[in-house]
Amino acid sequence: MKDLEKNIREILFTENQIKEKIDELGDQITLDYQGKDLLLIGVLKGANVFMSDLMRKIQIPLSIDFIAVSSYGLSTESSGVVKIIKDLDHSIEDKDVLIIEDIIDTGLTLDYLYHNLLSRKPRSFKICTLLDKPERRKADIKVDYKGFDIPDEFIVGYGIDYAEQYRNLPYIAILKKEVYEK
Ligand code: PRP
Ligand code: MN
Ligand code: MG
Repeated sequence: MKDLEKNIREILFTENQIKEKIDELGDQITLDYQGKDLLLIGVLKGANVFMSDLMRKIQIPLSIDFIAVSSYGLSTESSGVVKIIKDLDHSIEDKDVLIIEDIIDTGLTLDYLYHNLLSRKPRSFKICTLLDKPERRKADIKVDYKGFDIPDEFIVGYGIDYAEQYRNLPYIAILKKEVYEK
């Protein structure tokens, strides 16, 4: 991990803080979705780590699916154009859909997914994100379940990348500016 850690300015949330938050979220979702037909949709690739930890804290029957979208590519700025790279495997009609995201920044990714997935007629549609950066919002997003609010800094780790790297850091950290301001 040394090669990754030298580019980190500050750890925002430790493994333990993340774990405690996910325990709380899992309990709340377990209560709220009793008797429902819960389908978790993970937004690849960033939400992969969060989703795999969260789903094991939800103690009711559920199914999972994944959709892969990308708007950042190798840049730190959203292109604003969201592309579906891999669509869902199954229909979501009549399902109680809970979208799982790692981070909401401009909100453009979720705004796109909201409209795209709502047209497929789920029974209900809610949003769960581990991190929320409200300062940079360009689209109005109603967040139903949230882990943490974060400042306007470039974040990596726990699934979140810079130029496809750092996803394997077990904590959430702020990247040093000199790493991406070259
Ligand atoms: C990142 C992140 C969210 C999205 C948030 O994904 O994982 O999905 O950007 O940004 P927004 O609110 O400004 O749209 P990215 O497009 O980098 O793809 P990735 O998950 O594969 O890294
Ligand atoms: Mn993503
Ligand atoms: Mg990314």
